[in-house]
Amino acid sequence: MYVPKNVVSNQDLTKYMDTSDEWIQERTGIIERRYADRKGETTTTMGVEAAKIAIERAGIQPKDIDFIVFATICPDYYFPGCGVLVQRAMKMKEIGALDVRNQCSGFVYALSVADQYIRTGTYKNILVIGSEKHSFGLDFSTRGRNISVIFGDGAGAVVLQPSENENQGILSSHLHSDGESAEILAMYNPGTHANHWMEQKLADFDEAEIGEMFMSHQMIDNAQNFPFMDGPAVFKKAVEKFPEVIMEALNKNNCKPSDIKMLIPHQANLRISQFIQKKLGLRDDQVHNNIQKFGNTTAASIPLALCEVWEEGRIKDGDLICLAAFGSGFTWASALLRW
Ligand SMILES: CC(C)(COP(=O)(O)OP(=O)(O)OC[C@H]1O[C@@H](n2cnc3c(N)ncnc32)[C@H](O)[C@@H]1OP(=O)(O)O)[C@@H](O)C(=O)NCCC(=O)NCCS
Repeated sequence: MYVPKNVVSNQDLTKYMDTSDEWIQERTGIIERRYADRKGETTTTMGVEAAKIAIERAGIQPKDIDFIVFATICPDYYFPGCGVLVQRAMKMKEIGALDVRNQCSGFVYALSVADQYIRTGTYKNILVIGSEKHSFGLDFSTRGRNISVIFGDGAGAVVLQPSENENQGILSSHLHSDGESAEILAMYNPGTHANHWMEQKLADFDEAEIGEMFMSHQMIDNAQNFPFMDGPAVFKKAVEKFPEVIMEALNKNNCKPSDIKMLIPHQANLRISQFIQKKLGLRDDQVHNNIQKFGNTTAASIPLALCEVWEEGRIKDGDLICLAAFGSGFTWASALLRW
């Protein structure tokens, strides 16, 4: 894992917007988050820092990696993706590099893609990265406070390899989507939607010249270049889908919640994690949360948390680990692993 040095407290945010430490802690559990260095760090460079550690711990070299899957919603460029920038930065061979755009479920989706290539014997060393530099694209005025207080920057990475032991590894992964609610948590612009999907205007194209449709001055003036979230609607769906997709993974493998050594839920909101824990009847030591320190880091949150519990020696060979995520799309996913 890699997180930037710059710690931003809730109190720090009150300089920019009408909010309070009390409100943020009570509603989200977040105490502080990290923000990347403005110019010195990007989503890719943070991903590379995490990747270096993952590759070293796997006992291999960057040249041994034969595929990259990079999950992010904050790419360095609109295109090309971050995967190719990792390939360049780490001087890897001319391997395949795939970017996954599945928001908060991005890491579980990315891991499941990598898992398929391992299962078919196509690749032997796959680098899977989740990284986000949210601090570059949030509305730090009071208008954007429901979103901007939640998100933080960071990166996590794993190297996925085949195992000789049939009972070890990713037992199954479960991926879902419901595009009906795509606009409830989204960044509409820049984009090519031209208000096609909703009667409600997502941006004002009336005055825009043909060459300005993608991102106009008016969109910027109206703050339409920032993410939008209907927080309560997301919360409601998240507390329904998280337990559902975790139970799907457990049922598929004839396991029950008490068999889980460690549940690592995507760090959306501490209240959501607490709800899941209660619903599944899990003890505190069976669930890992670090949103208090890092905020919601979208595709990076699961590998960050996984790295922490591994470094703390809280997961050992043979333990049952469950990863689960829910977010924009909506998309949601889980993976059950035998460590
Ligand atoms: C975003 C979230 C914390 C907001 O909490 P909430 O209790 O639902 O709050 P609401 O959005 O209903 O807003 C309640 C009030 O707090 C205000 N508010 C919103 N953000 C605030 C902030 N940062 N500081 C102070 N007040 C804030 C609102 O303006 C609103 O005021 P009003 O009642 O005067 O209109 C919560 O909905 C949430 O966590 N949802 C899930 C989000 C999520 O997980 N997103 C990531 C996807 S994985």
